[in-house]
Amino acid sequence: MLNKNILASGLMILSATSAFGWGQKGHDTTAYIAENHLTPATKEIVEGLLDGKSPVYYANWLDNASHTPEYAYSKTWHYKNIDGDQTFESAPLLESGDIVRAIYSQVAILQDSNATRDQKQLALKMVIHLVGDIHQPMHLGHASDLGGNRCMVKYFGKDANLHSVWDSSLPESAHKWSYTEWQQQIDRTTPEQRVEILSINTPEGWASETYEICKDVYTKTPDGTKISYDYIAEWTPVVEQQFLKGGLRLADLLNSIFDVEYQGRNAIVNK
Ligand code: ADE
Ligand code: ZN
Ligand code: ZN
Repeated sequence: MLNKNILASGLMILSATSAFGWGQKGHDTTAYIAENHLTPATKEIVEGLLDGKSPVYYANWLDNASHTPEYAYSKTWHYKNIDGDQTFESAPLLESGDIVRAIYSQVAILQDSNATRDQKQLALKMVIHLVGDIHQPMHLGHASDLGGNRCMVKYFGKDANLHSVWDSSLPESAHKWSYTEWQQQIDRTTPEQRVEILSINTPEGWASETYEICKDVYTKTPDGTKISYDYIAEWTPVVEQQFLKGGLRLADLLNSIFDVEYQGRNAIVNK
């Protein structure tokens, strides 16, 4: 009995900090929205690099890969921590990297004419994933509670942590949709809205915007919060918005990298 309990609490600790990104739904939806806004020239290069697969196929790949020895170096690339008494600029930098610098380094590989095809394929898989993660509010969370992994809440009466709520429980409660249905329902914007979303077009710009949402989440979800229907209703529009922003910005980034004729974002804005 005692052994069983030790095993159970060990498993709980493991699962409590294993949250590496939006859950599958967030990454698949982000990648699928992006796919729908790639120019034909970009789509051809992207699918070529991915051996004919679509961005969705690899959207969640890094969350598994970072747990393997081969890609363990990317463990801290999924997030950037900013504590309550710090600002985006003053937060200390991890030597192992963070999501902002990782996106820059992987984009640089995609733009490097000396990089090999294998290097570019890996960088592309990373970028597809990380542009999703940088829109997950708890991926800009405090270092002191591991991005909300140690902020304990009740989710419809069950023990949960704030990070995992935002990775997957909340999106899954928001809508019982497949990623294609998510895209059909939320990828509906006016040209003006697309201009506004794409006006922030740097990793630090995306991260700062997400961090503002994160601060709001912390304020409204203190330790011990009992999360129920009202919380889902309040935050569902934010989840939708973050999936959509990630998708459109990923498409814009990939078009800028791969399509020499992609100018002024017109292909996305006027679609
Ligand atoms: N996932 C694992 N550790 C994390 C952290 N410190 N911040 C955000 N997400 C994480
Ligand atoms: Zn991740
Ligand atoms: Zn996560």
